[in-house]
Parts: sequence; C-alpha cells; structure tokens
Amino acid sequence: MLDKIKALKSEIEQITAGTFEDVEGLRIKYIGKKGIINQLFTDFKNVPSDKKKEVGQAMNELKNLATEKINNLKESFQTKISHSSGADLTMPGEPIALGTRHPLAIVKNKIISIFGRLGFIVAEGPEIEDDWHVFSALNFPVEHPARDMQDTFFIEKDPDILLRTHTSSVQIRVMENIPPPIRAIFPGRVFRNEAVSARSHCIFHQVEGLYVDENVSFADLKQTLLYFAKELFGVDSQIRLRPSYFPFTEPSAEMDVSCSLCGGKGCNLCKYTGWLEILGCGMVDPNVFEACNIDNKKYTGFAFGMGIERIAILLYGIKDIRLFFENDIRFLKQFESAF
Ligand code: PHE
Repeated sequence: MLDKIKALKSEIEQITAGTFEDVEGLRIKYIGKKGIINQLFTDFKNVPSDKKKEVGQAMNELKNLATEKINNLKESFQTKISHSSGADLTMPGEPIALGTRHPLAIVKNKIISIFGRLGFIVAEGPEIEDDWHVFSALNFPVEHPARDMQDTFFIEKDPDILLRTHTSSVQIRVMENIPPPIRAIFPGRVFRNEAVSARSHCIFHQVEGLYVDENVSFADLKQTLLYFAKELFGVDSQIRLRPSYFPFTEPSAEMDVSCSLCGGKGCNLCKYTGWLEILGCGMVDPNVFEACNIDNKKYTGFAFGMGIERIAILLYGIKDIRLFFENDIRFLKQFESAF
C-alpha cells in the first residue's frame, strides 16, 4: 500500500495538462468521487491496524498534494483564458462616473458655511427623543396640539419616547451640557405625522440656530438673519420679520426674504407677494433657560429654525418635495457644486 502511494505521489508530481478540459479529466481521475485516491480510502480498512497510522498519514499527504496540484493547473488556465479573450489590454479604461452631492447636503453645507463665518459651530442630537427635550423643556403646554398623536410619531411601547418634530430639541441638549456663551447651529432630520404630498413630507430636514450670551438682543438676531439671507440668496436680498408665536421664544417672528426670482415685484414663486417665507425665530423664552439651569437674569439669546427642503426648493426651483427622497439619479446629478 505504501509503495502504491509513493508511486502515485511521483505520478501526480509530474502531471501536466494541455487544456482546461484535461485538468477536469485529471481531477475526476485522481480526486473525483470514484477517483484513485478515494478508492485508496476504501481499501484502507484492509490495512493492518499497526500500519494504519503511517498509511493514513501518507494518504492524506497524497490527497493534499493532488488537490493542490489540480487547483494550480486550473488557476493557470483561468488566467490564460482571460488573457486570450481577445481584449486589447492596452486600451484606456472606461471612465468611472463620479457621484454628486445630494441637493439637501449642498444646501445644508452652504448654511453651515455661512453661519460658520459668524462663529457658529455645528452640533447634533438624537432623532429618537424624549418628551422633555422636544416639548416640555421648550415650554410647550401639556395640551399643545403638537403633543397629539396626529402630529407626532410616538414609539408605541413608551409614549415618552418619540421621533423629534423639530431640531429645537438640540437647543435643550446643548444648553444642558454647555455653559454660555453658546453660538451653534444644529442640522438634522425631523419627523411629523403628515400626509405625503408635493408640498409636505413626513420626513424632512431643519437647521436650528442658537446664540446665548450676555446682552444678546433682537437687533443681533435681525442682523444675523439679514447677513444669512444676503449670503444665501444674493446681496440685494431684503428680509422682513412678521410677529408670530412659538412656545420657546418670546417675542417670536417669522422671517420672509424678498423673492429671489422677481426681486420683490411679484411672480408665481412668491404668489405675487414679493416675499418668501423662510424661517421661524425669536428670543429664547426665559422659561427655556430655567429648564436648562441657565441664569435667565444674566443671559439672553436668540434662536431660529429653517427647513432645508424649503430652501432647496426655492434656490433650485424644485416643484415636488418627494423628489428629494426618491434617489432618482437623473434628478440628483443636476446639482453639482463645489460645496
Ligand atoms: N422649531 C420651530 C419649527 O419647527 C422653528 C423655530 C426654531 C422657531 C427656533 C423659533 C426658534 O417650526
């Protein structure tokens, strides 16, 4: 038996093959199910027990040798096949199509860069939040409609846990953790239980801004927003602030920017008003400071929040908000930008 194995070993060491089919033939002959080596394993039971160890070892070595040899032969043919496929390997390659940034990412980066020039840093908070950070600490009364199932997605098992409906929750997280002065913006995804249509979506993005220090005034807010509008929509842009209401700011306002399409004369985009509504803002309500353990006698601050989709729609003249979430490459590749 040992002699037989030795003979087979040297036989296998010598094998060569002219074609890929030859290799397959050799595989079947030596290591196939009914091949020579498997036959040896069947004969193994007749080996006297004191020889079993030695013979077994030799058989395993033989099997490994054959498998390796045949695999090597196979590989050499596979590479030969691709080399002889007729392709001209000196031809230049196909260019790789470069991706483009998502329009929402472009607009977000523009906003970050504009406020960055005013010294605002970027911070983020969780999308799954608790009632405290989204509502209670922001001075929402218990009976406020935003706390209703109709507007907010709650996590079923625990009504205290919900998907944040605005990035104002990050204001609270930041004020709880960083002592003033604070100058930061918070971009992020928000969720509202709304029917999806061309104009609204249940998922969208906001950028929140917060400035807290001694002697921060409404004039600071107005000048900051004017600078922002001119940087984003062009130097000729004007802003106007209309009184509004948010539980977490007092006084509160909504900001319009003069229509970037008609310059204020009136057109389809601004519905012949000359103005486009851009964001909500106001002076941080003293109750919010109190909830965050910030001395509301010493500090004042302003906050603002805007929808990124809304701004992208105005900047690029996009007709349907759903386009942002469909990932249609024909839509996405139109927004190449250095940002
Ligand atoms: N959180 C408000 C919204 O989602 C926007 C806002 C932010 C208003 C900050 C005032 C101050 O509509």
